[in-house]
Amino acid sequence: MNIDTFFTDHWQHIEDERVARYEQMFAWRPEQAQLLAPAGIEAGHTVADFGCGPGFMTRAIAGWVGPEGHAYGLDINASFVAKASIHADNPDNLSYHLVEDGKLPLADASIDRVLCKNVLEYVPDLAATLAELRRVLRPDGRLHAIDSDWGFVIVEPWSKAEVDEFFAAAAPAFKEPYIGRKLPGALRSAGFGEMQVSVSTAVDRNGHAFPVLRNMVSYIRQFDTLPAATTDALISRAEHAIEDGTFLLCLPQFLITANASRGATT
Ligand SMILES: C[S@@+](CC[C@H](N)C(=O)[O-])C[C@H]1O[C@@H](n2cnc3c(N)ncnc32)[C@H](O)[C@@H]1O
Repeated sequence: MNIDTFFTDHWQHIEDERVARYEQMFAWRPEQAQLLAPAGIEAGHTVADFGCGPGFMTRAIAGWVGPEGHAYGLDINASFVAKASIHADNPDNLSYHLVEDGKLPLADASIDRVLCKNVLEYVPDLAATLAELRRVLRPDGRLHAIDSDWGFVIVEPWSKAEVDEFFAAAAPAFKEPYIGRKLPGALRSAGFGEMQVSVSTAVDRNGHAFPVLRNMVSYIRQFDTLPAATTDALISRAEHAIEDGTFLLCLPQFLITANASRGATT
């Protein structure tokens, strides 16, 4: 394991056990559609889902755009792409493709909407990725990103200092752990136009988002950035809080929508 390139390596090479875990974590829930609402996806649109993972959201989008449109799932992980491609229910307007060397296998100005859900925190070169995403968008196209910011999390019963320490210990898993706050500025620098930024704040009180914490623990153990006893004690307190009903996890999602064409930036 190379800690300096872990943020991208761990997506390119995924053990079967982790693929199974991610298939559970990234399952598409219809209520997530509200996170995509600002993208304004319509029937007939061509849509690229950059960093599609197991491809569940891409499949939902293929249904929305209908037979006149097309949904492209794009990912750097060959297993995700291969498994998603052979799914028995795939309609004709859905296809999955591997992203190699940061290049999208799509023509210039061919896409109406680019979606990136929890992906841009991992890309090695954010400016180059945004330029590539902008290249494939039509001039009237739109990028819609959904991103966390790992400095903007509440975990009750942990103190603020404990939350900060825990997520700082997991930070090498991300190229840009604070992507939520950084992305609007990066989009502006990349030449995107009019932009809307909002924050969606679902609150988990029964522990359904607990796998997010477990995932961070698996990173922290590999990096050895916190003593195991500290991590175990934090997780144990969170588990007890779930049992006694005092648990609360708030992981706000930045929803950032930007026009491909230059213009007034709001
Ligand atoms: C946290 S998962 C999100 C998956 C999916 N978008 C979702 O929300 O269910 C991040 C995904 O981004 C992909 N990814 C990471 N770096 C990438 C890159 N440089 N180019 C394309 N995909 C990338 C990973 O392989 C993984 O599938």
